[in-house]
Amino acid sequence: MESDPVSYSTQRGFQIYSAGLRGERPAIPISPDALEQRARDLLPPEVYDFVAGGAGSGETIQANREAFRRWRIVPRVLCRVARRDLRMALFGTTLSAPVLLAPIGTLSIVHPDAEPAVARAAAALGVPIVLSGLSSVSLEEVAQAAPEATRWFQLYWSPNLDLTLSLAARAEKAGYSAIVVTLDAMLMGWRERDLQNGYLPSLRGVGGASHFADPVFRSLLARSPEEDRDAAVRQLAKVFSNPDLCWDDLEALRRQTRLPILLKSILHPEDAVRAVERGMDGVIVSNHGGRQIDGSIASLEALPEIVRAVDGRVPVLFDSGIRRGSDAIKALALGAQAVLLGRPYVWGLAAAGEAGVREVVLNFLADLDTTLGLCGCATCAELNPELLRRDPK
Ligand SMILES: Cc1cc2nc3c(=O)[nH]c(=O)nc-3n(C[C@H](O)[C@H](O)[C@H](O)COP(=O)(O)O)c2cc1C
Repeated sequence: MESDPVSYSTQRGFQIYSAGLRGERPAIPISPDALEQRARDLLPPEVYDFVAGGAGSGETIQANREAFRRWRIVPRVLCRVARRDLRMALFGTTLSAPVLLAPIGTLSIVHPDAEPAVARAAAALGVPIVLSGLSSVSLEEVAQAAPEATRWFQLYWSPNLDLTLSLAARAEKAGYSAIVVTLDAMLMGWRERDLQNGYLPSLRGVGGASHFADPVFRSLLARSPEEDRDAAVRQLAKVFSNPDLCWDDLEALRRQTRLPILLKSILHPEDAVRAVERGMDGVIVSNHGGRQIDGSIASLEALPEIVRAVDGRVPVLFDSGIRRGSDAIKALALGAQAVLLGRPYVWGLAAAGEAGVREVVLNFLADLDTTLGLCGCATCAELNPELLRRDPK
């Protein structure tokens, strides 16, 4: 970390206010709610519902947001914060900030440039992308589109172990530097809006690109996905995920790869401890953005106990409900090493492709940088629970 840190706050704010002097307004809405509304205006209703929606009544989506409101920041003053540094090291790589882009599948439904656009935007800002195991462009093509991006691969564990291991091996070969195993989507959540719309992108052939290119997957088909797309889609529905998975099964992946393996979807402290005991390199506290269980614990509510249980043995990452810099500050203060930004970057992609993702992430980093300094901290490592109070209301 020899180079000077980037001051996102100063640079971004100056750029936007200077443009304002010329009568210009930001092309992409600054407020996350206005951004979502912009995307909503542009997208077909069923696509908007698919991205915005959650399980059942949407209670967990709300709970994720309310959990942030229950923590208030108590800033410190006179702390010499002119020179701030958001950079952090994770698994031997220096990231621009403790921020990654969450794995979100089937992105071509919101914009034709899809995952390659997201990867290029992330690369430009030094923010890693976690590529979904259900991406609309294959993992190799995303790697080619943004070779300089720090890329992690999110794995859906198939009942066909050879397929699971093949996907992981391909990701490693293509330069992905960590594997994220998502554990809360073994069954599809009961999503009322999607059911009402009869809309599931993966059943329409979107999201299978990495599988369709996989030799093990192809060996399960009588005809290639190019020749018989419907049969490939039906096969994907059968083999993409394994509800019978158990802790012992993880061993096969642990043996195959030396890449860091993180378990995503951890909400119980005992599961976090098990992950550590099984040789996993990190956990991601997440409820899938409220898409799987209606009435699940908010991710932020689960975080402190998990941090305590893991006790510094592996990094604890966090997602679900991160919208602004202050949300990231709260999660980091409660012990997360990094946060994953989810839906907001998808709205940016919907609004303006690669440039939209770049704007959204840049605004998020600038907000984080500003709020960090205003809290009296020059680095994220200084954040700790002392900075937060539970709102009595
Ligand atoms: C449309 C959509 C698709 C998603 N697809 C995946 C996926 O393929 N794999 C995965 O692990 N998580 C997936 N997620 C969950 C995200 O990785 C992340 O946990 C979630 O978006 C965080 O919630 P937030 O966006 O409300 O902050 C998806 C989320 C959304 C909104």
